[in-house]
Amino acid sequence: MTLAHARWKSCAPDKAPTVQVSIDGQKVTAIAGIRVAALLLQNTSAETRHNHDGTPRTPYCMMGVCHECLAVIDGKTTERTCLIPVYNGMRITRCSGPFQLPDVR
Ligand code: FES
Repeated sequence: MTLAHARWKSCAPDKAPTVQVSIDGQKVTAIAGIRVAALLLQNTSAETRHNHDGTPRTPYCMMGVCHECLAVIDGKTTERTCLIPVYNGMRITRCSGPFQLPDVR
């Protein structure tokens, strides 16, 4: 995956340890411990999800308050990505539209 926004560059040293994750099924190399929201800003069009009406949303507060950074991580829905550090093998899926709630009947 290519760097979508050059303004989001890491200040980590070049030799920082890295992990392999996937974003929407595409393999990405990430600096170990970087927060998922920062990785998404660095590697995507900065949209972490879309509202039910298709309005794009992007991380805003980067401290767990606004919930604009929600995504699916390893199958767990509505994770606040600004609070979660990446780890090797993590599967990140950006959201589009409303979630399908599980049938609890
Ligand atoms: S960016 Fe606000 S809760 Fe994650």
